[in-house]
Amino acid sequence: SEPLRLGIAGLGTVGAGVVKIVRQKANLLATRTGRSIQIVAVSARNRDKDRGVRLTDFAWEDDPVALARREDVDVFVELMGGSDGPAKAATQAALDAGKDVVTANKAMLAHHGQMLAQLADEKGAVLRFEAAVAGGIPVIKALTEGLAGNEISRVMGVMNGTCNYILTRMESAGLTYGQAFAEADDLGYLEADPELDVGGIDAGHKLALLASIAFGTVVDFAGVRLEGIGKVSIDDIRQAADMGYKIKLLGVARMTGRGLEQRMAPCLVPQTSPLGQLDGGTNMVVIEGDSVGQIVMRGAGAGEGPTASAVLGDVMDIARGLRISTFGKPAVALNKAQTATVATP
Ligand code: NAP
Ligand code: HSE
Repeated sequence: SEPLRLGIAGLGTVGAGVVKIVRQKANLLATRTGRSIQIVAVSARNRDKDRGVRLTDFAWEDDPVALARREDVDVFVELMGGSDGPAKAATQAALDAGKDVVTANKAMLAHHGQMLAQLADEKGAVLRFEAAVAGGIPVIKALTEGLAGNEISRVMGVMNGTCNYILTRMESAGLTYGQAFAEADDLGYLEADPELDVGGIDAGHKLALLASIAFGTVVDFAGVRLEGIGKVSIDDIRQAADMGYKIKLLGVARMTGRGLEQRMAPCLVPQTSPLGQLDGGTNMVVIEGDSVGQIVMRGAGAGEGPTASAVLGDVMDIARGLRISTFGKPAVALNKAQTATVATP
């Protein structure tokens, strides 16, 4: 069969990781999907930057929108980041041209997911974003496939690797906030604007996406009650430890009689609980369904390998011919007025 041809915009932590996997595991990807997966063109800001991977076989586009529109690109892989600007423009251009899109960009999806889902639906294109929520944990696939027969009552978890890393290192190694932050940066966990991480906004984006998928509602980021880790001091962490607790940035979304409740804030969790033992950049997502009961998924929530792994999972589904967008039909069909979001007291 014909190769699946990728155009990748963004060659930072995640983009370079995807290029490495496609290069190193070409045979495995082809064997598992029945189709060869090829990168034909790439884009980033700086053409001369050494990214630790060979790019000379691929066409280079300075403009991601031009990359998204290329005739020889079947799937546009958006890994630049940013809720608006080139990421949104190029994603729209790709979908408008009927091309499938795989992205890790939770900020763009939290703000424009509904519009992009609608466009994909109109054009018969597929829009996938497993990597946008909880990094390497295939939580979206679990919700949309394995758990599809369940009524979901609650989704919750720790969904920002940076915050969990900083809180863990302050607690276990006695590092200052600044030292722990610098380590998270070295590990490739941070957003281009780290305020998105420490302000709880990135985790809020993920919770809004997860809630929309779990409950079949429109993405309502504005309805997430948000608080970041900026006010958590080393004294707070020590006092919590003295009482047998840890502080985690925890998100909870649940459907109530009054509508969808979404909250992301630092919480005390018992040290001995699974959440209390969640260290470093690890994420945990808990899903509760009527038939299945409680499912707990744990794994790396950020960084090159785990995030690239999730991007590849989506690309491989498209290569296998799965024409399923992450936002299902209900989210496309509903309009904003049909969701009743309540802030938690
Ligand atoms: P990054 O390391 O900052 O890389 C961003 C890439 O986009 C860079 O290669 C940059 O080019 C390129 N870029 C930025 N603006 C551009 C423009 N106007 N035109 C062309 N290229 C442009 O970011 P990242 O950590 O890989 O994250 C990428 C996306 O994945 C984001 O949406 C992020 O939220 C998401 N994500 C990241 C992780 C993670 O652990 N890092 C995990 C899950 C999801 P230059 O290199 O030339 O500057
Ligand atoms: N900055 C994000 C985090 C990357 O720390 O979790 C993964 O989405």
